[in-house]
Amino acid sequence: MATSVSNDLKRFWEDVATRMSGKKYATVLDISGPLVWNWYMDRVQSKVLFGQLPAKIDNSIAIDAGCGVGRWSIRLAERGATVVAFDLSRGMVREAKKRAARKSLNSNIDFIVASVTDIPLRNDIGCFSICITVVQHLADISRVIPAIAELKRTTKELYLLELTEDGNNPVKNPHSTIVQLSTSQWLSLIGAGLNKPPRYVGVDLGVFIRIVDKFRYRINKTFQTRLPSVKTSSAGKNVPLSRAILDEINRPRALVMLYHVAQNLAAFFSFPIDMMLGNRLKKYTLHKLFIVEKDDENCTQR
Ligand SMILES: C[S@@+](CC[C@H](N)C(=O)[O-])C[C@H]1O[C@@H](n2cnc3c(N)ncnc32)[C@H](O)[C@@H]1O
Repeated sequence: MATSVSNDLKRFWEDVATRMSGKKYATVLDISGPLVWNWYMDRVQSKVLFGQLPAKIDNSIAIDAGCGVGRWSIRLAERGATVVAFDLSRGMVREAKKRAARKSLNSNIDFIVASVTDIPLRNDIGCFSICITVVQHLADISRVIPAIAELKRTTKELYLLELTEDGNNPVKNPHSTIVQLSTSQWLSLIGAGLNKPPRYVGVDLGVFIRIVDKFRYRINKTFQTRLPSVKTSSAGKNVPLSRAILDEINRPRALVMLYHVAQNLAAFFSFPIDMMLGNRLKKYTLHKLFIVEKDDENCTQR
């Protein structure tokens, strides 16, 4: 089922890949945020995801769909899986390869440039797939549906992390809105055609983070209203939009610094609280993990 992705969307991710290149960020989640924030998101997501993955993943074939800079591919390969990792962005794949090479894991990971809406792999090739914070970025529900079908087609079991993001945040894909659905809508979309309903696990982001998020979105919103237009840069040149927005946001230094301090503090205090309260915070969560078990068969080992 081939569904194409717009060139604008491709350009956006290439632009993000350029900004990520050679940086220490663990994930592509928030390129405008401070390192601690990025680290915090990565820690919380890793804890939740690896708590759900099958206990024995060595010798299995794992697919990392929308691999970004390869944080999951590398961890799966370190745990003994053979990984097929792909991303829409050539730049992301380049960066992921570099990071894997640094850990001498290149021979355990096959990196390819491909879209989740049209995966160039045969049916059921993967024992399991992960697709972390990717499909909501497809901008349109008409692309999300084939992407989920492609993931189901190529894998026996599927682990998906969805992310609902605040629509007021301008540091998002400016070419599109992020697909925002309620938990029950995601559940019915992902579960369509399956015998077993998908499971949902909240990825716990704590009270402090929620407060700071409100503060951060308010700042972003204020900045957004100051932007001349979301379509052109301040200089009126046709520069990549995401860069234009980030440049604008970087202007009022004092506020940006305050925002970074608040984010760092929130991450610092939230981490132990999230870890302690575990799943009890799930209804407040921003991140949602959906787990699809396609059938009762055990994963075929390689
Ligand atoms: C927020 S990042 C997440 C990266 C990685 N999954 C992680 O958790 O670190 C989203 C990634 O999805 C990729 N992406 C966006 N649209 C895609 C598509 N249609 N097919 C494959 N990858 C896509 C982007 O290039 C980017 O690397």
